[in-house]
Amino acid sequence: MQLLSEQFRLEKKKIAVVPTMGALHEGHLSLIRIAKQNADVVVVTIFVNPTQFSPNEDFNKYPRNLKLDITLIQKENADVVFSPSLDEMYPKNYETYVESINSSKVLEGKFRPTHFKGVSTIVAKLFNITKPHVAVFGQKDAQQVFIIQQLVRDLNFSIEIIVAPIVRE
Ligand code: PAF
Repeated sequence: MQLLSEQFRLEKKKIAVVPTMGALHEGHLSLIRIAKQNADVVVVTIFVNPTQFSPNEDFNKYPRNLKLDITLIQKENADVVFSPSLDEMYPKNYETYVESINSSKVLEGKFRPTHFKGVSTIVAKLFNITKPHVAVFGQKDAQQVFIIQQLVRDLNFSIEIIVAPIVRE
C-alpha cells in the first residue's frame, strides 16, 4: 500500500482515504462520494480494529462482509481497497499507541476509556500507510472527528480532514 501511494504521489495524483471498519452502508458510501469529489485516487480502508473495542464489547461479533463491501466500493468507483490482516496491523510485540490525553477521556470516553486511544492509533497507522492528502470522516462521530483533527495538528500530519455531513438519522 505504501509503495502504491508513493507511486500515486510521483504521478502527482491527489490521494483521499476513507477509513472504515467495513459493514458498509449509505453513510460510508456518502464519504466515498465526497472523497471522489476531492481527490484523484480514493483509497477505502477496511479493518475491524481490536484496540478500539472495550473489554465488554464483542470484537468477534462485529459484522464482517468483505465481499459485499468490495462490491459496494466498486459501484462507487473508488480505486483501492486496503484490507490488512490483524497481524499486519498489530504484529507480535506491538507496543506503540497514540492518545489525546484529555479529549479521549470525556463524553463517550468516560464510558469507553480505551476507545479513542485505539481509534487514534489505528488512524495514525492508516495515515502512514496510505499517505493521503485528504481523509474523510463522518460528522456522525463528532468526538472522533475532533480527536482526529487534534491528532493531525499535534503530530504534524500533512493531511486535510474533510468532515462529511450526517446522511442517516
Ligand atoms: O469510524 C470508524 O469506523 C472507525 O473508528 C475508524 C475511523 C475506521 C477507525 O477504526
